[in-house]
Amino acid sequence: MAASPATNTTLARNHGSMPPEAVIFGRSHRMIAIRTRIEKIAAANVPVLIQGESGTGKDIIARLIHRLSPWESGPFVKVNCPAIPGTLLESELFGYEKGAFTGALGSKPGRVELAHRGTLFLDEISEMDMGLQSKLLQLLQDGQFCRIGAQDDKKVEARVVCATNRVLEKEVDTGRFRQDLFYRINVVNVHVPPLRERTMDIASLVEYFLEIYNDKYNCNTPMLSLSLLQQMQRYHWPGNVRELENLMRRYVILGSEEAILGEMSARRPDTLDLELPLDGPVSLKKITRQAVHELERKLIVRVLEANNWNRKKAARALGISYRALLYKIREAGLPSSHSKQISSDLEASE
Ligand SMILES: Nc1ncnc2c1ncn2[C@@H]1O[C@H](COP(=O)(O)OP(=O)(O)O)[C@@H](O)[C@H]1O
Ligand SMILES: [Mg+2]
Repeated sequence: MAASPATNTTLARNHGSMPPEAVIFGRSHRMIAIRTRIEKIAAANVPVLIQGESGTGKDIIARLIHRLSPWESGPFVKVNCPAIPGTLLESELFGYEKGAFTGALGSKPGRVELAHRGTLFLDEISEMDMGLQSKLLQLLQDGQFCRIGAQDDKKVEARVVCATNRVLEKEVDTGRFRQDLFYRINVVNVHVPPLRERTMDIASLVEYFLEIYNDKYNCNTPMLSLSLLQQMQRYHWPGNVRELENLMRRYVILGSEEAILGEMSARRPDTLDLELPLDGPVSLKKITRQAVHELERKLIVRVLEANNWNRKKAARALGISYRALLYKIREAGLPSSHSKQISSDLEASE
């Protein structure tokens, strides 16, 4: 879908009035649903789990939840779990008393304590080891924790927001993440879709970053051409919004579309990923069939994405029957989160 230049003018009129770190929700119904969900839950002190690929906006969504909460003026304490090596993470999170271990010359509050009457943001939660997971469970159950080496428990009131770029359900299945903790942190779930599944948002994000970086670097770089915007909608965005932001920053500074076009095409995977036999005869018929299937699959995914996974609309756009599309989706082995729904749809239409 092409960008509407009207949105750009609206943004331009608001020039300078945007809060730092605005979260752009664009036009995709999945992002709009996330915004509604965040607005609903921000006031209640319930744990939130934000899931999504790297660069989709988990951090800024966590901060937005904090800003919308009654503890907005309180602290926002972020802990990047994988960045702190195993044993240190415990003392970093829960703090320690003097003499708790060699080198503990004084006492120190942990980040949990520092987040009192604010938000504790645990990033990449899947990287936390099992021992710490049970301490965290206790904190979520009764708001209590214990500094290392302390006699008594302490109480803290904080909203806990966790994020992960892994499918945490899978980590639970394989025994790497406690199921009880998973239920505790997953009271409200926010699943941020990858950018390639919400191409409708690209134009709004482009306009936003254009304004931000024109402002920041004192430039006056004009809006991207329609054709580049269309190419952006076909791109697969492995780095999600972070990648788009970096492209726009470069575009604003260099003022040329070529720079970002080159980068996008360099990162584009082969359109046809065929298994060609290295020895023996090559069957043209077989390979052509395989190529057609692959192309069909890609086209279906793209049209589904453009229609926010509304299969009825996608079938109409593709000029095939709804049933035929359901069959093709199943045959193409499309993502499991959607395929459950698809199987029940198929059964219902049988
Ligand atoms: N919806 C959005 N609106 C505005 N900026 C965004 C949005 N999503 C992501 N960004 C920007 O993209 C970059 C990556 O976002 P971040 O929240 O760090 O992603 P993640 O934590 O999922 O890796 C940040 O600079 C962030 O400000
Ligand atoms: Mg992050």
